[in-house]
Amino acid sequence: MIIKIKNLKRVYEGRVPTQALKGVDIEIEKGEFVAIMGRSGSGKSTLLHQLGLLDDPTFGEIIIDGVDVLGLTSRQQTHFRLTKLGYVFQEYALLPELTALESVYLPLMKQGIKKVEYIKRATDVLAKVGLEERLHHLPRELSGGEQQRVAIARAIVNNPKILFADEPCANLDSESSETVLKLFQKLNKELGQTIVMVTHEPEDKKYVERVISLKDGLIDREGEKIRN
Ligand SMILES: Nc1ncnc2c1ncn2[C@@H]1O[C@H](COP(=O)(O)OP(=O)(O)OP(=O)(O)O)[C@@H](O)[C@H]1O
Ligand SMILES: [Mg+2]
Repeated sequence: MIIKIKNLKRVYEGRVPTQALKGVDIEIEKGEFVAIMGRSGSGKSTLLHQLGLLDDPTFGEIIIDGVDVLGLTSRQQTHFRLTKLGYVFQEYALLPELTALESVYLPLMKQGIKKVEYIKRATDVLAKVGLEERLHHLPRELSGGEQQRVAIARAIVNNPKILFADEPCANLDSESSETVLKLFQKLNKELGQTIVMVTHEPEDKKYVERVISLKDGLIDREGEKIRN
């Protein structure tokens, strides 16, 4: 089990307190490619943010890779995030002045890895996402699908235990979406990358192994494996 959450709750305090998660239990195996689906407002992003340690739940337990992550200090959590988790969001969030290669090696450079090493690793991972011909392009010189693939390369360059993606294809046309989803599938199959992806596209079901459906902050259906 790479992720196990128990009775997870998240209440957004404020003028009108909102119970976004009302007690969710989920177990995800190492190497799974799971989709989290459900209507707008059902709590998908909230769930992903709790699993990815980007937000603190109000109640419950989260065990990731054997670590009780809510028991960590915020410094330890930051370290855990940087070394073990990768993220892809709807907006690619690439810095406009960095080339594809620079965007991908930046996280490695910050860790003090040697230049020859980080350039090689970034080049290899960009080749893996099919961008070996675009290493020196700036974001504005890339299509939306290519920018998202740079963001994916950046997210996996550290070999994260888990890759989290929140509506990674929401800004893409159907052809680019297909490329991105097939890429996730390839990373999952060939590298055994564990992937947890939020999507509201019923179409995307065909790429994943299991669908977890949320409804009103609760698990609606925790689907069985679709494929092995
Ligand atoms: N920062 C916040 N403060 C207050 N309420 C919030 C906040 N963020 C989300 N909510 C509420 O929590 C609920 C779940 O929101 P969440 O963003 O997780 O939904 P979602 O399933 O990702 O929806 P979408 O498909 O539209 O992205 C919604 O009712 C939303 O209004
Ligand atoms: Mg959302």
